[in-house]
Amino acid sequence: MLHNTLGVPCRADRLMVALNDEQLVSALRRHQSDLVLLGGCSNVVLPRRLRRPVCLVSTRGIDIRRDGDRFLVTAKAGENWHGLVKRTLGQGLFGLENLALIPGSVGAAPIQNIGAYGVELAQRTESVRVFDRIEREVKRLAPEQCRFGYRTSMFKSHPGRYAILDVTLCLDRSARPVLDYPDVQRELRRLGWPDPSPRQVAEVVVRVRRRKLPDPRLWGNVGSFFKNPVVAANEAERIARSVPGLVRHAFGSGVKLAAAQLIDLCGWKGYRAGAVGVWHRQPLVLVNRGRASGDDFLALARTLRESVLERFRVPLELEPTVVSDSGAV
Ligand code: EPU
Repeated sequence: MLHNTLGVPCRADRLMVALNDEQLVSALRRHQSDLVLLGGCSNVVLPRRLRRPVCLVSTRGIDIRRDGDRFLVTAKAGENWHGLVKRTLGQGLFGLENLALIPGSVGAAPIQNIGAYGVELAQRTESVRVFDRIEREVKRLAPEQCRFGYRTSMFKSHPGRYAILDVTLCLDRSARPVLDYPDVQRELRRLGWPDPSPRQVAEVVVRVRRRKLPDPRLWGNVGSFFKNPVVAANEAERIARSVPGLVRHAFGSGVKLAAAQLIDLCGWKGYRAGAVGVWHRQPLVLVNRGRASGDDFLALARTLRESVLERFRVPLELEPTVVSDSGAV
């Protein structure tokens, strides 16, 4: 059985563990595109059975070096993300504080360009070292080559092609906290910290996340199940006419809406459908209420999607990666 934060049963017929890059690259060469790579399994929806070979990426190591005023931190793909955030903060290196407590591994972070409370991984990425499964060689990619976007990247748009070996981040010693996010500001006021240090920002983010998001050890979940939709400005106008207080953020040439609000307005918050449910404090999060399968989650996601599409004519896109037993990841 494969441990995953959604808490769904998944049996892997052939499971291997890569403890270093050599083992990982050799598994990739042996199995080509058939091999399923998994890290922290915190953003995947798994099937009941995987006949395809599975490799758990458990490579470890964090290297920190000075480069003039900045510090370059290289972490292996199998490192735990929050562990890396804590380690860098502990060394007085700043930049990752808003990304505290995001579940998962370092290797998964660039795939969806993790982001929270006004900061995205892309802003701190110096390079990503990958094994290209088509050209069958190790490459170091610059941030532009990774084509990071909102919860997406080239790794996500070419599923299965790139195996991430390590990520190099650029951090510094000067504290420039990003505090624009309303939830963060509210918590800072509550704590009476008008001018927080980066460690205090991380503490605030941890508190906000713990309050809003269900603990996957108690309620299986993958964080947001949908991305926030980006619509054309005139579409946002149309929806705003019937929804006073519609949450809207300018995004490129379009407008980003809050999927949580749209799902909430359709009345799904706290909804329960047997083994799965919609989290009562954040309807973007679907939770395992006991013995749910990946298909149960996908069925509930389909229901919510259809409901939002019917009421607002806005299609929602899934945020986690759905792993199937056929084809590439
Ligand atoms: N809202 C409601 N009803 C609710 C909850 C929220 O109407 O019950 C509205 C609120 O008005 C709020 C808006 O929805 O302004 C957005 O909610 P929130 O601030 O909680 O953030 P989000 O857009 O739902 C995103 C990320 C989260 C990240 C938070 C904080 C995505 C898909 N999700 O959520 O990331 O932690 O912002 O930055 O972008 C994840 O990716 O797994 C994840 C948890």
